[in-house]
Amino acid sequence: MPHSIAIFASGSGSNAEQIIQHFTDHPLAKVTLILSNKAEAYVLTRAKKHKIEGRYLSNAEFKDPDYLLPLLKEYQVDMIALAGYLQLIPEFLVQAFPKRILNIHPALLPQYGGKGMYGSRVHQAVFNNYEKVSGMTIHYVDAEYDEGQIIFQDKVALHSADTPDIIAKKVLELEHKHYARVIEEVIKGNE
Ligand code: GRF
Repeated sequence: MPHSIAIFASGSGSNAEQIIQHFTDHPLAKVTLILSNKAEAYVLTRAKKHKIEGRYLSNAEFKDPDYLLPLLKEYQVDMIALAGYLQLIPEFLVQAFPKRILNIHPALLPQYGGKGMYGSRVHQAVFNNYEKVSGMTIHYVDAEYDEGQIIFQDKVALHSADTPDIIAKKVLELEHKHYARVIEEVIKGNE
C-alpha cells in the first residue's frame, strides 16, 4: 500500500501542485487529502483538478483532535506536508505524527523565521538587510513556529538589484525543485 500524504495549505498551493505531480502514479506514496483553513484558497481548486479530496476546515476544526485525527485516519494519512499553511500546528498533531510533519520555509532558518514571518514579509526583511544570500528550509514540525529540526536547506545568491518580488521568485523556484524530493526521502527513511 502506498504511503498517504496530506497537504495543509492556506494559499495558492504551487508547492502542493509540485508535490501532487511528483507523487502521481508513484509507487511509494500519493497525495490523498488537501486541507485548507481558507475556503477560497486556490489550492482547493488544484485539488479538484487532480481529483484529490480537498476540504476547507475552520481553524477550530483544525485544532480539534476529535475532528482532525479521525479525518486523517479515514485517508490513512501517514505523512503531512505543510505548504504555505499559516497556522500553528497543535501539540496533539505533533504527538500523533512524530517526524511525519514537514514544513517548508522561504528563508534560511533560523534566520527570518518565527511568528509573523511568512510570505512577502520574509523576503522584505531579507531585502531590508541587504542579504547577499537567501534560500529555503525544509524542517520537521514541532509545536513552535519554524523551530523543528532542519532536514534540508538550499541557497540562492541575491544581487543588489533584486527586489523582494525577485527574491521571492528565486526562493520559490528552489522550493519547487526540492520539496517533493525531500518528502520522498523522509518517507523512505521512515520505512
Ligand atoms: C512558500 O514560499 C512557502 O515556503 C511558504 O508559503 C509559500 C507558499 O507558496 N511557507 P505556495 O502556496 O506553495 O505557492
